[in-house]
Amino acid sequence: METLLLNAKNTADIETAANILKNGGLCAIPTETVYGLAANAFNAKACSNIFKAKGRPGDNPLIVHICDMDMLCDIVAEVPEKAKLLAEKFWPGPLTIIMKKSEKIPDVVSANLSTVAVRFPAHPAARKIIEAAKLPLAAPSANLSGSPSPTSFEHCVHDLAGRVEGIIDGGICEVGVESTIISFAGEKPVLLRPGYVTLEQLREAIGEVEVSHAVLEKLEEGEKVLSPGMKYKHYAPKAQVTLIKASSKDYIKFVNEHAAKGVFALCFDEEAEKLCVSTVCYGSEFSDEQQAEHIFEALRKIDESKAEKVYAHSPKITGVGLAVYNRLIRAAGFDVIEL
Ligand code: TXA
Ligand code: MG
Repeated sequence: METLLLNAKNTADIETAANILKNGGLCAIPTETVYGLAANAFNAKACSNIFKAKGRPGDNPLIVHICDMDMLCDIVAEVPEKAKLLAEKFWPGPLTIIMKKSEKIPDVVSANLSTVAVRFPAHPAARKIIEAAKLPLAAPSANLSGSPSPTSFEHCVHDLAGRVEGIIDGGICEVGVESTIISFAGEKPVLLRPGYVTLEQLREAIGEVEVSHAVLEKLEEGEKVLSPGMKYKHYAPKAQVTLIKASSKDYIKFVNEHAAKGVFALCFDEEAEKLCVSTVCYGSEFSDEQQAEHIFEALRKIDESKAEKVYAHSPKITGVGLAVYNRLIRAAGFDVIEL
């Protein structure tokens, strides 16, 4: 299929993207977190094509994107009080809230769960496209299943050209990691995926928030999970990655002692010049926001390199660092060395 390459700076291209979506097609769109591969959330056929285009397992549900609170009322059965508080505080923005779904949401979107994940993105282009289409949009990250989430137009073209009707360029995604996901499916709110909206901020807003153990730990074989996406080995680079938990000094010493052909360091900016192996940096040691912005780009760079073995310096697990750690530990297949 021919893929239309569009630009969010052109009003006509926003209209074209909206028309693709209204007609049941797929279009990759920018959001502040990562690019999403969007379809009309009420069109089961269009949504099932998302799974085909990405090679995504059918039991992994999609997030529905909205541009106002009226759309929310249409897609959920009820909004719990604490979810309302979070929506007031963090929407539009990089937070996804899981609630009981309304009957209008097709089963293919929720992968037969009784809940739906909802997000109100802040990115102006995403909002313009939803407004122009006048439809809630189901959209997972716009990568091929198993690749790092796309944070640029070029990443989307690399993964999806020829597989979808359109891709619209909205520049680089500022946040760089996918949205924080909190679930109100059970009695207590549970953090399913950490992101730019931090656990600390959520707790400050609504009090107690549990953390799904899949955020930091490997699932047991066959374990039942709250979020199906957690079972899949996401973001897996071709090279074998080990996460190193250590001070900068000890990390540098360890990597230099293990220098060999094919060994790479996925490190902080400040460390590169002290390392005697090839390096890919993912931001300053002192900025978890910068690390989030660059982590997926860095993982793609590693895939394009000749790396066979990668020693990644672990970020801190507080604030936005928890989100970066969560992605990296999956890229490392939970292989961690603590020095
Ligand atoms: O920032 C983001 O959230 C991006 C942009 C495009 O909005 N989207 C994104 O979607 O990351 P995706 O599909 O790559 O990740 C969605 C995650 C998956 O792990 C999925 O299993 C989980 O959300 N999820 C979706 N609906 C759910 C539900 N009803 N219950 C539990 N987990 C759900
Ligand atoms: Mg994804």
